[in-house]
Amino acid sequence: MPLPPARPLPQAPAPADPPPRFPAGFLWGAATSAYQVEGATAEDGRTASIWDTFCRTPGKVFQDHTGEVAVDHYHRFREDVRLMAGLGLTAYRFSVSWPRVQPTGRGPASQRGLDFYRRLADELLAAGITPVATLYHWDLPQELEAAGGWPERATAERFAEYAALTGEALGDRIGRWTTLNEPWCSAFLGYGSGVHAPGRTDPVDALRAAHHLNLGHGLAVTALRGVLPADAQLSASLNLHVLRPLTPSDADQDAVRRIDAVGNRVFLGPMLEGGYPEDLLADTAHLTDWAFLRAGDEKEIHQPLDWLGVNYYTPTVVSATAAGSAAAREDGHGGGAASPWPGADRVGFHPAPGERTAMGWPVDPSGLHQLLTDLARRHPGLPLIVTENGAAYEDEIGADGTVDDRDRTAYLHGHLTAVHRALADGADVRGYFAWSLLDNFEWAYGYAKRFGLVHVDYSTLARTPKASARWYARVARSGELHPPSAPPAGGAPRPTERDHP
Ligand code: FCB
Repeated sequence: MPLPPARPLPQAPAPADPPPRFPAGFLWGAATSAYQVEGATAEDGRTASIWDTFCRTPGKVFQDHTGEVAVDHYHRFREDVRLMAGLGLTAYRFSVSWPRVQPTGRGPASQRGLDFYRRLADELLAAGITPVATLYHWDLPQELEAAGGWPERATAERFAEYAALTGEALGDRIGRWTTLNEPWCSAFLGYGSGVHAPGRTDPVDALRAAHHLNLGHGLAVTALRGVLPADAQLSASLNLHVLRPLTPSDADQDAVRRIDAVGNRVFLGPMLEGGYPEDLLADTAHLTDWAFLRAGDEKEIHQPLDWLGVNYYTPTVVSATAAGSAAAREDGHGGGAASPWPGADRVGFHPAPGERTAMGWPVDPSGLHQLLTDLARRHPGLPLIVTENGAAYEDEIGADGTVDDRDRTAYLHGHLTAVHRALADGADVRGYFAWSLLDNFEWAYGYAKRFGLVHVDYSTLARTPKASARWYARVARSGELHPPSAPPAGGAPRPTERDHP
């Protein structure tokens, strides 16, 4: 007689999986940049940057908002450092305002300008928070733009001088430095599509700017090594485009190759591999002979880095398309009349499916995993830090005074899960900085897009940590990726008032 089928043994309920744990020493941070948060644009000797000028040009920025007050971090940095400490952050990424520290863009430093960053660094160190300073987050002194700006080689030389005098003055307090933030935006949105300052629209100027930003990076790294202590850690932060073809066709794959060249390899090539990609030079040969690239420049740019900063928000879907179509002008930052993609006139940009943030950017954490693991494979031995990642949503302060931004918490949780998977897959990721600590001036969108962990009321400048900040604090304190807690019962969010003076 056949035996009856064995009955499964009763099983103890599976213990809940422990939350993913990040390595000890992983940096938990938040990021800002000078023009977006400081305000005080005419104080203590600061002169105008290209963003002050751009904001004063009617129609360039949403409702002609400016960074004159921003969120007044210049005067409220002590309160902001207290906020960071309260959130358990172990690092703060901020940028140094070039026109505050070297008002004419050349010559000696301004003591008053440097003193602000000394005080900020001291306050951070006293709170046990590691300062991470970016030297250039888009605020070129206007005087240097008047002399030709980034399309001119001299700007790279001025940048290295500014880097040296800033490093020399602050190197005793600040050990981690980033030369440039997102040079793609500086070159191609600033000089190509013109949606960012200084608002020029010439594809050759954009390519010249990209090269001189690269050169400025290399010269600055060399200059910084000369003035900083031997253990200082140097980097650049790039907004690398995670590219997906619309279809597997050869034509769409070639669209990916083109955008990868002028969006990513234009910086990765010279900075990390010692030269510009041949296909970029070929794709743009009808525009320029690249005579601005001089013998020895690529060697100068190719400096050893201690880590690479990776900024990621959303992936980009591209296809082959007709020249001059509106899709060929897409850039994720509001578009413009001109294209930010020299040599890629026949590439179309497509909305990725799925959920979107208030910027209209699709939410796709798998892109961050792909980016980190691809970089780790291509550049083994180079530590990575996610220096920006975050999302804008239509936040509102509820009747009880809190901000229930569960969509932002879900975004951060999804992307930190991707970072954790990348670590498990062998990527050497050393830290994560949420963009941004505070709601702030979002460039051409003015104050209309809120990216902060902390809400700012633009009429009183009052700071209110959002629910996402409390969740992030728990993760930062424990090093464990706790799931977002169940959403509290409540009605649908109401729109926030945009009430900046
Ligand atoms: C990045 C910028 C940063 C902020 C975020 C949303 O491109 O580096 O200043 O504007 O986007």
